[in-house]
Amino acid sequence: MNKRMQAFQSKNLPRLEKKIAEFLNGLSAERTLKDAMTYSVAIGGKRIRPLIIMALCSFYNRPINDDVLAVAGSLELLHTYSLIHDDLPEMDNDDLRRGKATNHKVFGQAEAVLAGDGLLTLAFDWITRTGLDSKSKVDLITALAKAAGPEGMVSGQVADIEGEHKTLELEQLKKVHELKTGALLKYACQAGGILSKTEKKEFDLLVDFGATFGLAFQIYDDILDVVSTTKEMGKAVHKDKGENKNTYPVILGLDGAYQSLSQAVEDAREVLVRLNADDSVLADFLEYFERKDS
Ligand code: IPE
Ligand code: IPE
Ligand code: MG
Ligand code: MG
Ligand code: MG
Repeated sequence: MNKRMQAFQSKNLPRLEKKIAEFLNGLSAERTLKDAMTYSVAIGGKRIRPLIIMALCSFYNRPINDDVLAVAGSLELLHTYSLIHDDLPEMDNDDLRRGKATNHKVFGQAEAVLAGDGLLTLAFDWITRTGLDSKSKVDLITALAKAAGPEGMVSGQVADIEGEHKTLELEQLKKVHELKTGALLKYACQAGGILSKTEKKEFDLLVDFGATFGLAFQIYDDILDVVSTTKEMGKAVHKDKGENKNTYPVILGLDGAYQSLSQAVEDAREVLVRLNADDSVLADFLEYFERKDS
């Protein structure tokens, strides 16, 4: 991580973590539900999605105030729900997440499903509780619903699971990745644009950046499953092949997957040039995609 990103994170991440912890702590909910929801959020994660929202606000000189932290935090809640459900035995069947036992391993499957339901719903609730103007709230909720729902992530997850029983063409897999992972990262960029009240032209470029960044993110996740370690990832590796997942390395080989990743990263960088953001903290997010096997 370069110095600019380090400075950005050390300034903003503790505020985000505090905001999320306080918000969850303040909920009046069934004790075990609250514990299960809090567990998966509190055990960590890179917080890439909320960081993108905050970075965009910072780029547009929009103060990172409590409302921004809430919108950023709400996306992390929703993302964490997607991980809890993704790990369930009927889905990817994983025991380890963020370096700890998965939610269903600690709380049982029923609680894990419900903790996910709770986090998903709460994400929208949190946006409504902010002091943002009504239009911003509606725009955020509309975009988040679209990204997370059947026209976004959930369809991607279905296609991923159904893909275990068939071999996808590369174009089909790209679509799965754009939905299951790209949609929420695209939303992060939309949210940054809505909070910063960017003009339509800028907003459209942000959407392009989010979509290409999201595709790169899932291609890299596929690559890391092959080249990284459980210790580094905090989740099982070398698992996609065994689960018959369609991934970029499975279809293209590792070199081909890296080439697709480079292409997506370059596409994202080009959008940043058009946004005049190629020398900003936004460009530093592209450093995440470092080559691991060389
Ligand atoms: C993991 O997301 C699931 C994917 C969409 C690839 P992250 O890699 O952002 O996981 P955390 O939040 O850091 O744990
Ligand atoms: C998950 O993709 C995407 C989600 C919507 C959660 P993966 O199944 O590859 O994510 P990991 O590898 O389990 O984190
Ligand atoms: Mg999965
Ligand atoms: Mg998984
Ligand atoms: Mg994966």
